[in-house]
Amino acid sequence: MADMRVSFAGVDFKNPVTVASGTFAFGREYAEYYDLSRLGGICVKGLTPLPRGGNPSPRIAETPMGMLNSVGLQNPGVDAFIRDELPFLRGFDTKIIANISAPTPEDYALMAAKLSDAGVDMIEINVSCPNVRAGGMAFGVTCEGAASVTAAVKKASSVPVMTKLSPNVTDIAEIARACEDAGADALSLINTLLGMKIDPATGVPILANNTGGLSGPAVLPVAVRMVWQAASAVKIPVMGMGGVSRAEDAAEMIWAGASLVSVGTATLADPYAPVKVLEGLEKFLDEHGLTLEGMKGRVKLH
Ligand code: FUM
Repeated sequence: MADMRVSFAGVDFKNPVTVASGTFAFGREYAEYYDLSRLGGICVKGLTPLPRGGNPSPRIAETPMGMLNSVGLQNPGVDAFIRDELPFLRGFDTKIIANISAPTPEDYALMAAKLSDAGVDMIEINVSCPNVRAGGMAFGVTCEGAASVTAAVKKASSVPVMTKLSPNVTDIAEIARACEDAGADALSLINTLLGMKIDPATGVPILANNTGGLSGPAVLPVAVRMVWQAASAVKIPVMGMGGVSRAEDAAEMIWAGASLVSVGTATLADPYAPVKVLEGLEKFLDEHGLTLEGMKGRVKLH
């Protein structure tokens, strides 16, 4: 049997399959389907310093092979997460990754300090949410913005920090390097691609926010390309996500340079998707005589 364990930024994951932030809430609904301890890790819904109700509806729209969302970081706030959700998640033998967003680097740092003290395993710095006016992607589309938030969080955190990158940039390699230089222990990518859907009969955008983030199988080739570019540009490890719904998709991510793989939108259609990707990947490795380490970043370019 293939060795599925992954050491990632100093954290020992039992397997490389995690679930992506914003597609798994805080795990309660999925725990009714299977034991969350089967997962390598859980990235929780994006947290903010204070509770947020999110954007007005409609905030989800189906697209060909994907979906648009403009949820707007609906969440109960960092303190309620620590009080009400983290103890539940800690009941499972899996790594807990807290995804954080805030309007200023100082606010990100305050959240990172609280979450480190509360005992999460890693912090994922969200500088890539396309659906909020302050913070989010506004930080992640420049080297200076991404680096300033990463540096502030790194200073305040006692657990490894991972910066989640936006695909809505011209040069992902330079953003990746800026985050590494600012102290990131790891990178995750991609967040969603900024998109728009218009009712063809009325001319009115489907989403109340007009625009939203595109995810799902349609974005997989973009995600694989960007994981490859980012992973090739840095020495820190990368968690790959974006359109992963099958074991073969996870394998592509690993060839491109990902150490961990996250399943996101697929879980909304099939709650078992992360487990199927995990079990399928194990079988795939055995059938092809491959190993995670032997594949990672070793894409055989023409
Ligand atoms: O709108 C949202 O809550 C999306 C968050 C994200 O893409 O990080």
